[in-house]
Amino acid sequence: DKAGHKHFMAKEIAEQPVVIGDTLSHYLTDDGRDVVLPGDGIDFTSIDRLTMVACGTAYYACLTAKYWFEQLARMPVEVDIASEFRYREPPISARTAALFVSQSGETADTLAALRYCEPHAQTILSVVNVPESSIARESNLALPIHAGAEIGVASTKAFTCQLTVLLLLALKAAKDRGTITDDRLADILSSLRGLPALINNVLEQDTTFRKCARLLAETDNVLFLGRGLMYPLALEGALKLKEISYIHAEAYASGELKHGPIALIDKKMPVVVMAPRDALFDKTVSNMQEVMARGGKILLVTDGPGAKEANEGVWRSLTMPEVDPILSPILYALPAQLLAYHTAVAKGTDVDQPRNLAKSVTVE
Ligand code: F6R
Repeated sequence: DKAGHKHFMAKEIAEQPVVIGDTLSHYLTDDGRDVVLPGDGIDFTSIDRLTMVACGTAYYACLTAKYWFEQLARMPVEVDIASEFRYREPPISARTAALFVSQSGETADTLAALRYCEPHAQTILSVVNVPESSIARESNLALPIHAGAEIGVASTKAFTCQLTVLLLLALKAAKDRGTITDDRLADILSSLRGLPALINNVLEQDTTFRKCARLLAETDNVLFLGRGLMYPLALEGALKLKEISYIHAEAYASGELKHGPIALIDKKMPVVVMAPRDALFDKTVSNMQEVMARGGKILLVTDGPGAKEANEGVWRSLTMPEVDPILSPILYALPAQLLAYHTAVAKGTDVDQPRNLAKSVTVE
């Protein structure tokens, strides 16, 4: 049941304010001021290192979480793609927690990576959408994302719910390790509770996204750039676009531009820049100007202050609500999804069942 939407993907994008609200209600105390984990939870004081493993979009959720665990909990984090990790057989020290992120909970490579870690790691954690899945059953603590069934092959609401749970887990780690003040924790949790309303605000700009997407649909290549927390999101934006619209898209960390990809810039290729007005904004803007100086077309996704400062000379600009920078990946997932969705619709591709793809990859 698409609940009046043209595609499951559209329905699942639109559901995000509600499902993220649900996720939060499962992980916050009644007064919303503290994080609670299911079951016996986990005590991060006995853990020195976190290893996160996943595939595809779930891998990008892990890459984002690396920034959170490092910044908030000052914890060393290793992130890897399951198909690389499992055959590399990396050494795992005893005080390591291994965390596996999987919507389906059945991805073959991710499950194999979990089984590899099981004898070595202190504990096995998973972030899953299907609580009865193999990955959930074989972990010491499964953290459900409560996104509800995801039918569209391209992951949308599962991604933002994964991010929500991973941020809450990073906050729990920060609290256990004494690396966050009570005030900062209260601040972030309060911003998180306000996030569904901000996502609704983005969803209301659907027409603007559709117009932009009609232009993207005309092109053969798109480059995505982001820095810091926006880098994994740039990767996710490129993956979404290629999966459902079949347009070739690549993502780079903004700072890598000069080290190669700038050679691709010409008048034909749009460059999507994800950049809220945060501490790294000026750096990203200077990368953006390098693109414009070479005739490149910039699609800037930023907030009000960012638009005011940097809109001059850009090709198109999309304005997001302002949000605590630490939460920006969850909010900026929306423009990544909406641009991909409307581009695919404009091209007339099969949005919910893109060619060659399966929802759950249970063989390697
Ligand atoms: C992208 C997408 C895939 C999955 C990947 C992992 O939109 O859906 O990249 O994220 O196949 O799947 P799970 O999360 O089920 O392990």
